[in-house]
Amino acid sequence: MKEYIQRFTIWQRFEHAAGIILFTILAITGLPQEFYQQHWASWSILVMGGIERVMWIHRYTGMLFAALVVVHLAIASFQVSTRRVKASLVPARKDFLDAIAMMRYYLRLSDEPPRFDRYDYRQKFEYWGLVAGSLIMIVTGFMLLFPVETARLLPGQVIPAALMMHGREALLAFLIVITWHLYNAHLSPESFPFDASIFTGKTTREKMEKEHALEYERWLAALQVSQPPAGDNPPPEETAVSDEKPAG
Ligand code: HEM
Repeated sequence: MKEYIQRFTIWQRFEHAAGIILFTILAITGLPQEFYQQHWASWSILVMGGIERVMWIHRYTGMLFAALVVVHLAIASFQVSTRRVKASLVPARKDFLDAIAMMRYYLRLSDEPPRFDRYDYRQKFEYWGLVAGSLIMIVTGFMLLFPVETARLLPGQVIPAALMMHGREALLAFLIVITWHLYNAHLSPESFPFDASIFTGKTTREKMEKEHALEYERWLAALQVSQPPAGDNPPPEETAVSDEKPAG
């Protein structure tokens, strides 16, 4: 029987699910506005009930998305600054060395891939790309939502510039999510056909040992000192073991 290790808290799983739902609604209501001259775009605007409704849904969903990002950053900064959780997503020198070591491994210049901690360099790069992209979308989105107020503070030319940035960044984010993120998280040989850990919160001991060897070793060492409690916030760094099959 496979053993499962707790990897994500209920809050992290909620944030990811809310992010998927809100981002999907924003892409579905935003991209047809950008490509309105294309047949598929004008057709989908009509199917969704017309441009007024599409703009309305986009604006309110944008505000919810902004709230999710702000709450995420506030909680993460608080937890890291008060040392409640380790800054496991902050890039370090090891990430650059790991990226080089991984290239060497892919080119068969070394026999072993690097050993990663809780998040590898690709996951950190993607996370910070997502944070930066979200901030661009939120700032430019609010500039478009309040153009008169924005033009009182800044030169008027920033409004068309914000529209251009908002649309191009949306397209970039959409393409990154459907190619890079879905490949890394679900379609790569290591994860195919589907890595459900961010939905169930649990991952297999085998995957943990292979993909996050350093965290796994720390977890084993802590296990020898004390039996970690099962639940959503067990030591070290939110990991606990169970042989229950995750639901879903
Ligand atoms: C990351 C998620 C988002 C995506 C993928 C997205 C996508 C888009 C796209 C593609 C457009 C059309 C741009 C063009 O016509 O060139 C657009 C317009 C717009 N977006 Fe977003 N957007 C996002 C987040 C936001 C946020 C956070 C807000 C702020 C509340 C916002 C507010 C607006 C506004 C006001 C417009 C102009 C159209 C209108 O007046 O409704 N968006 N968005």
